Order: sequence, then structure tokens, then C-alpha cells
Amino acid sequence: MTQMAETRSGDAGEDQAPTFGNFIGGEWRPAESDRTFESRNPADTRDLIGHFAASGAADVAAAVRAAEDALPAWRLMPAPKRGEIMYAFGALLAREKERLAREMTREMGKVLVEARGDVQEGIDIAYLTAGEGRRMFGDTTPSEMPDKWAMSIRQPIGIAGIITPWNFPIAIPCWKMTAALICGNTVVFKPASDTPHCAALLIELMREAGFPAGVVNMVTGSGEEVGMPIVDNPDVHVVSFTGNGQTGREIYTRGARRLKRISLELGGKNAIAVMADADLDLAVEGILWSAFGTTGQRCTACSRLVVDEKVADDLVGRLVDRASRMRLGSGLDPETDVGPLINSSAVGKVGGYVEVGTDEGARLVTGGSKAAGDGLQHGWFFKPTILDGVRPMDRVAQEEIFGPVLSVIRVDGYEDAAMVVNQTRYGLSSSIYTRDTNTVFRAIRDFQTGIVYVNAGTIGAETHLPFGGIKGTGNGHREAGHAALDTFTEWKSIYVDYSGRLQRAQIDNQ
Ligand code: UN1
Repeated sequence: MTQMAETRSGDAGEDQAPTFGNFIGGEWRPAESDRTFESRNPADTRDLIGHFAASGAADVAAAVRAAEDALPAWRLMPAPKRGEIMYAFGALLAREKERLAREMTREMGKVLVEARGDVQEGIDIAYLTAGEGRRMFGDTTPSEMPDKWAMSIRQPIGIAGIITPWNFPIAIPCWKMTAALICGNTVVFKPASDTPHCAALLIELMREAGFPAGVVNMVTGSGEEVGMPIVDNPDVHVVSFTGNGQTGREIYTRGARRLKRISLELGGKNAIAVMADADLDLAVEGILWSAFGTTGQRCTACSRLVVDEKVADDLVGRLVDRASRMRLGSGLDPETDVGPLINSSAVGKVGGYVEVGTDEGARLVTGGSKAAGDGLQHGWFFKPTILDGVRPMDRVAQEEIFGPVLSVIRVDGYEDAAMVVNQTRYGLSSSIYTRDTNTVFRAIRDFQTGIVYVNAGTIGAETHLPFGGIKGTGNGHREAGHAALDTFTEWKSIYVDYSGRLQRAQIDNQ
């Protein structure tokens, strides 16, 4: 087996960054084209992390063939045995947690404590899914006929295409791959082009855990050159994608032509509603964490604050005070509150939205620009930003910005708040701060999202509950928990007639 990475010793200059290949059929190998792309540290772009295979359709085809070859043995391995390998994988993630977290911070910028949380989410889902190998429940049920047995079981679909984002470079690949694998599918994995190093480290641990050759394959490269060939390949039977809405719609459309199972998670425009009776000290903490944690780059990030007019000035004043004092810097520095954005185009996009907001009449009350200054000049830093006086249908209240921008919408009472919370095409996560029990239960009933938090922010979903949303957030699938099994299995219903005679259902028992 070739090494995971090779240093380009023959290269001119100081480029000692390692080169990584694709992982196909249990081996690391370069892209057929031999082309590569770079991954750099967003907090300091002088730091080159590595060169990665810029792959294409031929590499995808090779990975699908490897996944196909591995499928018959893998699907027949008893699920509890697959679970043992999964458990070993979880243990390896735990062993490597600190190294993975540091490499994650280096590659995509989130602060170290959050990077550790990202890896922990991978560990949690690996252990949960390992146990699923001994559950994976179907139903047994009485037959309507005498001397007849009826039951349903889950079976793998075949080859799973897994296409993941950069913002949770360990957790999200783990959600998707563990579920696909425990069910007996084999995998072709395309990680985000901004975090190929995290993906390579993850794959190496999967190899070490003992997933047989070809069961997990990784192909790196762009969405157009790698992602779409995965979606279009007739032998890939199910595709799970987390990312932007436009790409998701394209995947859904292409998959539909081949009647594929497609699972989509396409983001959110998540609101925190703060009622006049709320504990404002508590709300401030939850809002700051949800809006500016991971530099606002979570699908579940709070990007809308829907606040009762009676407490709005007080709350916004406190938020501005705290947000303006947040420290930006490298996520490896324990003093840092907010790390960089992922890349230059994110800085351009977020800056553009601040302009859109102020043009629409919002008041910029803190932040609003790229952060400069000591230690920040080589990274993609953007100040935590709050826009006040936003109207519910303004673009900054409707479009996913995926950065540290909070739009404040002032409302009058619960009914008004609930209406505004729901006035979005997305439906991932929402939250309400109130001390009134009746209002709590009305919000649980009324908020049109897949996840509702009470007296907590919009981020931090746990791995044993279904994760996903309604409306434009996706297409009805859920990840994590046992709900994830629905994406990666087909139901098979089985009838065993032990009467020894012809029994016609719906006819002979009337
Ligand atoms: C995402 O941003 O796509 O609930 C996932 C959370 C995390 C997962 C976020 N556990 O915020």
C-alpha cells in the first residue's frame, strides 16, 4: 500500500507541503490527470497545508468500481460485525481527537474548542451507529391469515455517494458515512475542496479501523468534476449531500432522472425569538454563541434575532457591547473568540450582504467589515456584525449569508414573533427565550423547523436525535439518530406461509 502523503522533495522553492491522493480500493493513488489543488490555512494563507488530487470522472468511475467489488462481501457481513469495525473507528477518533482538532482548526479556522466538539460529534455518532449494528430494527407483525408469518427488514441500497461541506469536516462525513456503512452500503466520498486534509486523516483512521478495501473510497476535487459524476453514475444508488441550495437542487434534479434516493441538507435562516419576559442575560449568551460561533458558518447558526420591541433596545445594546469586544484571531490561540471565514469569496459575500442590508435601510450597529490589524493581515477575518431595524422580507433576513451577521427584527408579542420566525423559505432550527410555559409549548407547536430549542440558542444538536429541516432546508430526510437509517436502507416485506395450502390475502379470510 502506498503512503497517504508524499512530500514533493523534487519541487523547487520551499514547498515542503505533502501531497495526498485519492483513496480507492484500499490504496492511496494520484488523480488520473495527475493534477492537484492546494489547501491553505484561512487564518494565515501563507501556511500551505498540502496538495490534493484534482480528480475527475475517471477517478470517480474507478472509485465506484471499487465500491461495487467490495459490496457483496460487505452487505453479507453480519451487521453486528460491521458494528465492531465502527466501534474501533470511534475509538481511533477518540485516540486522535486532539490531533484531528488541531488540523481542523488549521485547515478551516474554527476555534480549537469547537474543533474538538466537531471531532467529538464524530466519536458520538460512530459509537451510536456501532450499536445500531445490533438493532437496525424492522417490524414483526401478525398476518391476517392463519399459519402465516409477516415481517419487514432493512436492506442496504448499494453504493452511497457522500458529498460533504467544509464547516464540519469530521462530524458531517461521520454522520453520513457511518449510517451508510452500518446498513451494509459501500461508499464513495467527496469531501469539500476547502477541507481535503481533514478528510484524508479521517479516511486513514477508517482504514486503520478495519473497513475492508473498497468499502470506503474517497475522491477529492471540485463539485463539477467529482461531485456531479458521482451523482450521475448509474451505479451510485443513493446520494447524501449537505451544502448550498442551488447545488442541492441540481443534485436532486439529476438524481430524479435516474430515480435515485437523494438526501439533502441545504442550510437555514434560523431565528431566535426573545419575548419580553425572557431572561436577557441568558438570551445574550445564546445569541452570541449561535450567531458568531464557528464565525456564523453553521447551517444552524442564528442569523435572525426576532425580539419583542419592549426589550429590543436593552438586548441589542448588550449584544453590540459584547460583539464589538470579541477577539478575532487564529483558532489555535486560546484567547480567540472568533476565527476566520473559510476563504476570500466568503469575505466578499459577507461584505456584500452588509451593503445589501444597509441599502435596504438596516442600521449597522457593530462590525460590518473585514478585520485588519495585528495578526489578522494574512487571514480571512470578518468582524462580528449586527444589523438592526431589519424587516422580515429584506434580503438579509431571507438569504443565507453563512457568516457572522445577525439581522435584528423587532416585533410586538408572541403572535407577531411566530409569524416572522416562519417567514422564511428555510426550516432547520429555531429557538425561543421566554419564562412562560404556555408560550414555550405554543412555540414548540408553531415554529416551522426540524429543530426547536427552548431557552437555548439554535446550534448544538446532539447525534442521537434526528437532524434536518423542513421547507427549503431539504427534501424530508433526516440525518443522525436512527432516522438516518431510512436514507440508506430499503424496506423488504416478507411473508412466510406455513399452512401448507394456498391462502389468498384479502379473499380467503372474509
Ligand atoms: C451544520 O452546520 O451543517 O447543531 C451542522 C449543530 C451541530 C451541527 C451543525 N451539531 O450546530
